Amino acid sequence: MRLDKFLGDCSLGTRKQLKEYIKNGMVTVDGAVANKPEMPVDPEKNEIIFAGENLTRDYKKYRYYILNKPQGVVSATRDNHDKTVLDLIDTGYDKDLAPVGRLDKDTEGLLIITNDGKLSHRLLSPKKHVEKEYEVHTKKHVSDEDLRKLENGLDIGDEELTLPAKAFIENQDGTEILHLIIHEGRFHQVKRMLEAIGNEVTFLKRIRMGQLVLDSALLPGEYRELTNDELNLLK
Ligand code: URA
Repeated sequence: MRLDKFLGDCSLGTRKQLKEYIKNGMVTVDGAVANKPEMPVDPEKNEIIFAGENLTRDYKKYRYYILNKPQGVVSATRDNHDKTVLDLIDTGYDKDLAPVGRLDKDTEGLLIITNDGKLSHRLLSPKKHVEKEYEVHTKKHVSDEDLRKLENGLDIGDEELTLPAKAFIENQDGTEILHLIIHEGRFHQVKRMLEAIGNEVTFLKRIRMGQLVLDSALLPGEYRELTNDELNLLK
């Protein structure tokens, strides 16, 4: 990539400012002062220093984060009204990061944030049938009959019934929590599935995507990089 593009990705200033910095000899590439904004660089191989700060020490082309999305934040890259999930991520190289799919504003839980478009596409492709597991609190009791209906497929107002899912009840300290495992990603799917059986979601949290489980050490709003093992589970 061009040197000025890399510096821009590091949020160091406007194109015009970056040009000035380069002209003033404030940027070195592998120890030599860079004098052309369009100079080609590879941040994974070259050492780029700006005003004494090494910009490439921790650089990775692809970055992968697991976020425990809190309620009240939208799954978008930018929004005019609401705080976005990207506002929660501060890594120094935030350009091109995007959430893998969406959770509703009032939904919590596992959200992957990455700039790896191919992985994102694969995880979201309906053909890949990646499982998504949700913990669902409901207004009313969920009966065995309800579980059977959720599992078999429901008319939620779309052309097609929902695909077969898995549903079971877990007792957490005396509270019944529905676990719903689906491998589609339709708009408001879990909420609409519960509506279709005459119930209502009062709290929704995603706890697993594929084989990647939400780290219980992450409080809502916290994130960390995925480990290599976790990344391999997704790939
Ligand atoms: N289903 C929903 O209804 N909302 C979500 O955020 C995710 C799945």
